[in-house]
Amino acid sequence: MASKPIHLIPTKDLYARWAKVYDSDGNILHRPVTESIDDALLPSLLTQAFSLVPSSFSFPLTITELGAGTGRNTVKLLQPREGVEIGNVIALDLSAEMLAIAKSRCSSLTSTSTLASSPKVYFYEFDALQPSSFPEVQALEGQAGLVLSTLVLEHLPLKIFFSTIKKLLKEGGVLVMTNMHAEMGRLSRAGFTDIDMESGNVKVKVQGDSFVYEIEEVVEAGREEGFEMVGEMLQRGVAEGDVGLMVGERGMKWVGVKVWFGCVMRLGGRGK
Ligand SMILES: C[S@@+](CC[C@H](N)C(=O)[O-])C[C@H]1O[C@@H](n2cnc3c(N)ncnc32)[C@H](O)[C@@H]1O
Repeated sequence: MASKPIHLIPTKDLYARWAKVYDSDGNILHRPVTESIDDALLPSLLTQAFSLVPSSFSFPLTITELGAGTGRNTVKLLQPREGVEIGNVIALDLSAEMLAIAKSRCSSLTSTSTLASSPKVYFYEFDALQPSSFPEVQALEGQAGLVLSTLVLEHLPLKIFFSTIKKLLKEGGVLVMTNMHAEMGRLSRAGFTDIDMESGNVKVKVQGDSFVYEIEEVVEAGREEGFEMVGEMLQRGVAEGDVGLMVGERGMKWVGVKVWFGCVMRLGGRGK
């Protein structure tokens, strides 16, 4: 079967269109089952990160999420976590359409929560490429003890990614990041299948701005902005046994390819 035409569009426009199916289109990294690759591997990184937050920070903790998307991982920050009190979660994203879904997902969770006090979640549109256009977000700089950013790095120049997170974090704060692996990025990029808006019936692959990063250059770019990696860089490839479960049927073409990496980094290398 001939492959679909590719339409490259601005990243903001990509997510404006992708938002309606982002949580249901079977993307192998974030497909909406409990065991998607990112869902399965993020919890251990979060646990590690929480253990690294300096006890000198004031609690309850503020967490900022860069590129919160539809709130897939934002809701994980609202679950009770032993030994950690989270006060505020600040969810930033380029796309109003993605954030609208995140808002409704978080409010349905907090409205049914039996917790005495759930973290408060604040949502802001924000473009890391034009931070000065978002003074409300700039006012929040230096407040986060922890920054979470999953599957976002692909859309940003490395220096901008790390310098943005550095501004959001307190000195000594902790970053949890995940990204598409370069082995996958060399063959594909973030995007989805949609109907061509001009013809109204042809299926096209819609994709946005995307960079392919090797792990070594990510670690080095972090180091240049003052981040040190703590523990291991996790990497995940697709195995035959993942098809149907972890990566759905669409994962078949990725068997044998590394598709994901993730790690924890600390700003300033200051110990607890
Ligand atoms: C692949 S989605 C990941 C969403 C979510 N973190 C997750 O793991 O499901 C990438 C997200 O990054 C956001 N994004 C892309 N470029 C951005 C920028 N320049 N500033 C802020 N967010 C951006 C997009 O709007 C999108 O929601």
